[in-house]
Amino acid sequence: MKRLALAVVLLFAFLVQGIAQDQTQGQQPVDRSATGGAQTLEDIMKRQRGEKVDTGFRRNETGDPNSAAGISSQLGTLGGASDPELWRALRYGSADITVSSGGKEATVLMQDGGMRWLAWRKGPLATYGAYLLAGTLVFLVLFFLLRGRIRIDGEKTGHTITRFKAIERFGHWLLAGSFILLAITGLITLFGRFAIIPLIGKDAFGPVAFASKWVHNNVSWAFMLGLVMVFVMWVAHNIPNKTDLKWIAVGGGLLKKGVHPPARKFNFGQKLVFWGVIVLGVSISASGISLLFPFEFPMFAVTFEKLNALGLPQLVGLGPLPTELAPHEEMQYAQLWHSIVAFLMIAMILAHIYIGSVGMEGAYDAMGSGEVELQWAREHHGLWVKEVEEAQRSSKAPDKNTVPAE
Ligand code: HEM
Repeated sequence: MKRLALAVVLLFAFLVQGIAQDQTQGQQPVDRSATGGAQTLEDIMKRQRGEKVDTGFRRNETGDPNSAAGISSQLGTLGGASDPELWRALRYGSADITVSSGGKEATVLMQDGGMRWLAWRKGPLATYGAYLLAGTLVFLVLFFLLRGRIRIDGEKTGHTITRFKAIERFGHWLLAGSFILLAITGLITLFGRFAIIPLIGKDAFGPVAFASKWVHNNVSWAFMLGLVMVFVMWVAHNIPNKTDLKWIAVGGGLLKKGVHPPARKFNFGQKLVFWGVIVLGVSISASGISLLFPFEFPMFAVTFEKLNALGLPQLVGLGPLPTELAPHEEMQYAQLWHSIVAFLMIAMILAHIYIGSVGMEGAYDAMGSGEVELQWAREHHGLWVKEVEEAQRSSKAPDKNTVPAE
């Protein structure tokens, strides 16, 4: 779990590095005497080639509109600042702007980081996200072809045992149903422009995009409710313990027929899914709320500050992450993070859906009717069956969970 968390942090730090890296690092001083210190053709070309340009020579040269010398000088109404200096100050967010309404975000008139965000959203995010999902699907198809459906090995008993109560199944399907809707509408939002518009045209895509956004924004609450329900109901069964080591030692018996490591209510693989869903679910909800209420819940500058204090980005040679973010940058990071977490979660859930349906005989019943074949339960959750038997023996009024004598 710790490793997974570190990997997620590193992946994000890597992405952050790409969009936020200070453009002044590792630059040779450039001779700008020919332009009197202003930018050169080479600066412009570099920027167009997407290379790093040291912007310090412009960023810091924004004049002083308040200087007494300036006001009396021939520069006129701008005081000590010339037109280009004023535009530079606007561009780099250092101009003194007063607005009659709106928050701090209304004082940002230009935010060129937005172009980097757009490039990341259209580029690496969409590309690697699509690779991840396609790779997961290919892996699952290969797994199915090589391993086939995991069958109940022993003789079926014809008896069932209650695995999940109605309230547990309700919580699961609330979470699952909302997640599937969120995943589909989220993917439409990210890929619609270049995957769906060419197929159905802009006019038809308009209502689709509008409906997607509406569903995505509103169904998110059902997802959060499902997440809380699932957490409360199952957390006690998902605390790692020594039995998990036996499960890990034989790869959960997933790769070989007839191998059934002992497990209680949830095996180690399921615990990974549970904690994956909880940790990623909380993170995707937090960044989602930040997107749902623009500029109200900025959370990245403070998170970066904490990560820097822990030394995590420095540990992997990325240097400290930026801790002063414009309101719009906060939103851009929230969007990127929200999508990265979504891709990771969708990939994990695709594998979960596979194993909970076609991949394993008898598994779906647990969430369908709530009743599973006793032999299935003995093979996959042997210790849990013993616990249920034990509880029934010590209880005076056995319910329909009663495990029949052999
Ligand atoms: C069509 C979609 C899905 C199917 C068929 C499905 C099926 C199942 C089944 C059969 C179980 C119980 C396994 C057992 O008895 O041991 C289960 C458990 C669980 N499901 Fe789903 N599920 C689906 C979607 C989802 C989604 C979208 C999420 C979360 C976003 C989710 C989260 C969980 C969690 C946390 C558990 C408990 C841990 C585990 O068994 O892995 N499920 N699911």
